[in-house]
Amino acid sequence: MSKHQTAGVQIRSIVEHQKTRAVRLLAANIDSASAARITASAGRPIAKSLMPNSFPDPVWLGAYDGHHLVGVIHAGVPGEAEHLADTIQRGFPVVGGLALFTKIVQNCTKIEYIAVAPTHRENGIGAALIAALHDVLLADHRRHARSVTAYASSLDAQALFASAGYTIGQPQKPIPPDFLEGLATTWRPSVFLSGRSGAWAYRTIH
Ligand SMILES: CC(C)(COP(=O)(O)OP(=O)(O)OC[C@H]1O[C@@H](n2cnc3c(N)ncnc32)[C@H](O)[C@@H]1OP(=O)(O)O)[C@@H](O)C(=O)NCCC(=O)NCCS
Repeated sequence: MSKHQTAGVQIRSIVEHQKTRAVRLLAANIDSASAARITASAGRPIAKSLMPNSFPDPVWLGAYDGHHLVGVIHAGVPGEAEHLADTIQRGFPVVGGLALFTKIVQNCTKIEYIAVAPTHRENGIGAALIAALHDVLLADHRRHARSVTAYASSLDAQALFASAGYTIGQPQKPIPPDFLEGLATTWRPSVFLSGRSGAWAYRTIH
């Protein structure tokens, strides 16, 4: 296989009973602090409870070489929506209130994890996973997909996101608020967790 070709590798949704495999692949390929936080269960329970019938499903896509899962991307509603939902549910005043919450849920997506098995790297699979994610987001009637963000903890990941059209922020600096409907980034990884080179990546899609 030559560089940037994904010959023989198919990208498709990861069905429920294969999520354990997906989590295992992710955990084996990302840093141990992030690996400890991975879960296959549906995230953002408080946010989902505020819009139970229209909350967008998290996206799990796999790259399959035959039956072998060789790459995974997992994305969903950003953590900022969960914090906002919690604040609203506790009855605290929120500028923008439920309308702002709904906008974040529908417009903004965070790539939680992406990894490709070492045997299959630098063949375009990571890029194909990101492109497939964008297609899924744009086709989902529960979303008005607009911005996608990701925390790129390694230089490889930053190269990947840059080649997929993402802007790479300065190390340790938050996401520009425009990519979170005006909200500030809630998660600022410590140097201890991510090393000095970790940076947010962000882009709009349409
Ligand atoms: C980051 C990762 C997912 C990239 O997957 P991949 O399938 O090898 O990436 P691709 O072959 O699709 O490469 C796409 C682009 O990223 C660049 N890239 C990928 N890995 C690179 C590396 N090690 N060094 C330099 N550039 C790299 C490629 O050059 C390519 O850019 P181009 O098309 O402009 O030439 C993979 O290296 C990985 O799983 N790493 C460990 C887990 C990880 O770091 N995940 C991200 C956490 S945020």
